[in-house]
Amino acid sequence: MSSYQIDTPKKYDDSYKKSVNCPETFWDELASQNFIWNKKWSKVIDWDFKKAKVSWFKDAKLNITTNCIDRHAKNTPDKTAIIFEPNDPSEKNKLFTYSELLKEVCKMANVLKSMDVKKGDRVCIYLPMIPELAFSVLACARIGAIHSVVFAGFSSQALATRIDDCKSSLIITSDGSYRGKKILNLKAIVDDALDICETQQKVLLIKRTNELVNLVDKRDFFLEDLIANVDDSCEAEIMDAEDPLFILYTSGSTGKPKGMVHTCGGYMVYTSYTFKNIFQYEEDDVYWCTADIGWITGHSYILYGPLSNGASTIMFEGVPSYPDFSRFWQIIDKYKVNQFYTAPTAIRALAKQGIGFFKNCSLKSLKVLGTVGEPINEEAWQWYNLHVGKDSCPIVDTWWQTETGGILISSIPKVIPDKPTFATKPFIGVQPILLDDEGEELNKPNSVGKLCIKYPWPSIARTIWGNHQRYIDTYFSAFKNMYFTGDGAFKDKEGNFRITGRVDDVIIVSGHNLGTAPIEDAINEHESIVESAIVGFPHEIKGNALYGFITLKYNLENINHIKTEINSLISEKIGPIAKLDKIQITTGLPKTRSGKIMRRILRKIASNQTEDLGDISTLLNPDVVQEIIDNYQI
Ligand code: PRX
Repeated sequence: MSSYQIDTPKKYDDSYKKSVNCPETFWDELASQNFIWNKKWSKVIDWDFKKAKVSWFKDAKLNITTNCIDRHAKNTPDKTAIIFEPNDPSEKNKLFTYSELLKEVCKMANVLKSMDVKKGDRVCIYLPMIPELAFSVLACARIGAIHSVVFAGFSSQALATRIDDCKSSLIITSDGSYRGKKILNLKAIVDDALDICETQQKVLLIKRTNELVNLVDKRDFFLEDLIANVDDSCEAEIMDAEDPLFILYTSGSTGKPKGMVHTCGGYMVYTSYTFKNIFQYEEDDVYWCTADIGWITGHSYILYGPLSNGASTIMFEGVPSYPDFSRFWQIIDKYKVNQFYTAPTAIRALAKQGIGFFKNCSLKSLKVLGTVGEPINEEAWQWYNLHVGKDSCPIVDTWWQTETGGILISSIPKVIPDKPTFATKPFIGVQPILLDDEGEELNKPNSVGKLCIKYPWPSIARTIWGNHQRYIDTYFSAFKNMYFTGDGAFKDKEGNFRITGRVDDVIIVSGHNLGTAPIEDAINEHESIVESAIVGFPHEIKGNALYGFITLKYNLENINHIKTEINSLISEKIGPIAKLDKIQITTGLPKTRSGKIMRRILRKIASNQTEDLGDISTLLNPDVVQEIIDNYQI
């Protein structure tokens, strides 16, 4: 167990050095000593970044659920694995011990089998944050089916695209979902998606809101009918370490979403190891990550990372504002949460409410706070530290991506000091590097450059589902022999990294990755619209918000009407998270002579920084710039 627990600076230094100088030995020991394998590997790491080929623990056999559930069901059967806190605090919560979790997952796995799901099949999961979501994910892993969880805030069209891309054969959903005061009819969204899907699906339906739903004979099945007839044990399918475990879609700067593929062995080892150390999880701690399992944070740090460590992990169905803004603090006190992991956007929204909502909440149980998803500004960091952490909890600002599977840069409580607005140091085995545009390494202290990683870590995504070339082009072509993150970063003289934001056309809104191209494609389908350009601008709560510059085919009298239609179109094609905060109708977009939209200029205008627009005289249509500035939307 020696290298598994990193609890002193010396252990970090020694392990980091070993992981860089002798990575094969380091990971061989770590993986052998802390996990259950059915067969050992023939080679620890095999990689060629030029071809974007990476494999870890080659030829090894395992099942991740044996590691996440069975071994704890055997050793600590009565320990709480999952705590389900419902949307409405007046509804009873549900706790599942490790032995109960094993049964639930096995039952769900047997239901999937009874619906003909086999190893390698894709299963799409479109569910609210209810326990069955966890059971479904783990049941897929149990039988070797590849889960593709789609966040239940995505629209029917976005869902259909994801179903068709991975050609799933089954979709697991519920009648409805609760979010604060709202009830969303998920089944109706699924029905609409299936109407436009090319792929045939069966539907496994879970009752949550007891809404009336439309049922299609021989296609839709209620879980409660099927689960009554199945056994509560199910042998775990023996998987190859490099077999896909799941696909998770993330927005790209162009085209359709990318189905990032994560595999069983490396993903398990890395998410488990990072969870244990970055959150300094101890035996009886209660851990809470407020993300949704529809995002990578939920996959890695609500389910797989915590469960592989035998942790007690909370699943919260609701929102921070319901019934009021004290909900997070109430939950922390109710379960005596020790580690609390949330997003800067939530912190900013809560900070705006003032400190009245802390009344009667002690938050004394907290030991470690975490943030993820976007840069955290100094003010939000200080507020989090003072009012939530009471100035005595380290804050881990964890930088990572859907593609990286686990946290790559973060401080570690008691080991690597935190520093406001800095993610700080690379985790063990991670070799970040800053490059200039020509690909030269920026070695000097206080450099700003493009953040790349020069050596594989176990949970790096292996490919984009069905499109390896796109994987090569997106991540391995910008710089020779490097994984390019798409982020910019600053490195101070102590070697701490601060992430400065995306350097491509992805915008992070409330911690969600949004590509500008898919939003523009959605808008451009409107019959009155010629073209559009979406850029980000700073937003007090969301970090960034979206500003759309739109040109119309003809002058319209009712501009407000078209603005409403644009956002409806976006909601329909992508989901409400991609709606525009500001829309400006303009007679043209600034373009280069080759016809490329000059987003740099639009970004500055949207941020109200028009003093230094650079040389605009070479544009095809320089006059339009002044018109856009004059009509800037406050
Ligand atoms: O720009 C970085 C930002 O979120 C991007 C990854 O988004 P996604 O794949 O949706 O995964 C989010 C959850 C891991 C990154 O490229 N990002 C993530 N964490 C941080 C961050 N930016 C600054 N600081 C962070 N801690």
